[in-house]
Amino acid sequence: MRMNHFLDIHTTTAPDLRAIIDNARAMKDARKGRPRGMADDDQPLSGHMVALIFEKPSTRTRVSFDVGVRQMGGQTMVLSGKEMQLGHGETIADTARVLSRYVDLIMIRTFEEATLLEMAEHATVPVINGLTNRTHPCQIMADIMTYEEHRGPIAGKKVVWCGDGNNVFASFAHAAGQFGFDLSFTGPETLDPERTWLDFAASKGHPVTIERNPDRAVEGADLVVTDTWVSMHDPESAKERRHNQLRAYQVNEALMARAKPDALFMHCLPAHRNDEATSAVMDGPHSVIFDEAENRLHAQKAVMRWCLGR
Ligand code: CP
Ligand code: NVA
Repeated sequence: MRMNHFLDIHTTTAPDLRAIIDNARAMKDARKGRPRGMADDDQPLSGHMVALIFEKPSTRTRVSFDVGVRQMGGQTMVLSGKEMQLGHGETIADTARVLSRYVDLIMIRTFEEATLLEMAEHATVPVINGLTNRTHPCQIMADIMTYEEHRGPIAGKKVVWCGDGNNVFASFAHAAGQFGFDLSFTGPETLDPERTWLDFAASKGHPVTIERNPDRAVEGADLVVTDTWVSMHDPESAKERRHNQLRAYQVNEALMARAKPDALFMHCLPAHRNDEATSAVMDGPHSVIFDEAENRLHAQKAVMRWCLGR
């Protein structure tokens, strides 16, 4: 049986990423107008059991994976890391070996990337990255799908990230290399992204531009993206300092006005309204934030099919 882990955008081939996005769009089209609980016509996960493990909170990832599996005919179990032996000393490797005897697919949201990688190394079923401290590939698959639904191919477009150089930015940097768009980062030096993420995009011929001035950064942007200023893995004590550092990078109407007139605005959500982005932008004409959220469902369904070779 073919088995693919979906661990990151930079560790999946560009043709496979493209095939997943195309498949997601086809599956979305095929079920237009149906109630969410109605099954898809084909049932590629029929008889399949999927474990959804969460060591951090989640609304979108949890619900979209659960609904997606059911639409494709499979069954799910949602597990919280704390309630499993995972939180009480059993190794990740042993957990992976055990779960592989019960389920056909594992999705995990965790803290350390090492946990995800150890799970994938020892599982004999596919493992999907549902977010770590370092990356969030499923989100960016949905975001690429969303951009292309609204504006056509993302290749060659200018994408500007405002704020913290975090895990969601990392997957955008990987995607810049794989999908061939120009990515700019604007944020304070203290919250710069990791060098390795930028090196990947550069190695694919799409170096990331760093521009400290947000007004200059968004000039001519086709897409403006931001994310929460404090991520789930950041210490609560960092909050005040980060707010001070990032206030100048808020996405508001004045900043959006510097982008192209038909620029899109994205945020993976959950958002802190009027911190990283104003409500006027989030609810305004450029915003596609709820399409992004919906497309998590379709993109992840395509990811799961690819993982299982179905
Ligand atoms: N965007 C995202 O992953 O949302 P959740 O944390 O709600 O899953
Ligand atoms: N950067 C955020 C994304 C949440 C979906 C976090 O890791 O908390």
